[in-house]
Amino acid sequence: MVFDILTLFPEMFTGPFSASILKRAVDRGIIRINLINIRDYSPNRHRTVDDAPFGGGAGMVMGPEPIIRALEAVQQKRESKTGPVILLCPQGERFTQALARELSREEHLVLICGHYEGVDERVRGYVTGEISIGDYVLTGGELAAMVVVDAVSRHVPGVLGEETAPATDSFADGLLEHPQYTRPRSFQGSEVPEVLLSGHHARIARWRREEALIRTLVRRPELLETARLDAADRQFLRELAARLSRMNLNG
Ligand code: ADE
Repeated sequence: MVFDILTLFPEMFTGPFSASILKRAVDRGIIRINLINIRDYSPNRHRTVDDAPFGGGAGMVMGPEPIIRALEAVQQKRESKTGPVILLCPQGERFTQALARELSREEHLVLICGHYEGVDERVRGYVTGEISIGDYVLTGGELAAMVVVDAVSRHVPGVLGEETAPATDSFADGLLEHPQYTRPRSFQGSEVPEVLLSGHHARIARWRREEALIRTLVRRPELLETARLDAADRQFLRELAARLSRMNLNG
């Protein structure tokens, strides 16, 4: 899978992409990350990319020309001219695990990092989608692009290797992940739950499922509305709700 990232600050990406799982995926050729400096496509010799907003107001706006010229250069290089072109901005669609999984099926993704007070509205006519990584404003789209590349890459076959599977992640079926433990069995008086030491796979699986349901109910109850639940899950949640309401009633 190829990511083309259009940015004013390519140097910001060197850290996150040169360590750990993403580095291994790049080294193995499973993913490729091209960093394109938007400034290289400025139409003037001062290499400017922004200007004051028409109508007045604070800050600067990224002009359309360098961004669109950079985008066209990228698209000319690739075989298929279609494929997502995504603007990272706070007004975009909220980024989720489902969207990460969906985007991982693409061969080619173009990510445009906005900056300053925003990008000229006409850029929106050239993108296929807009993504926000959360309801807060970053100084630019770079960190958001890194988040998208990381979360999408995990779903590309071969990136995580054999040892881990995105299928068991938090959100994989719409629930938060169950608690995990490793050695030592006892740490400062806190013990690993007995069931995990039992070697009883069915019991362990059931315990994990129920812990995931409890954790989701307590921390993110709205996720249960869209989670993939079977009859046993629903029964467990009903019993849990009944137990909780008895506790509330009894003080
Ligand atoms: N650029 C600035 N803030 C952002 C956000 N929350 N998500 C994506 N891109 C952004």
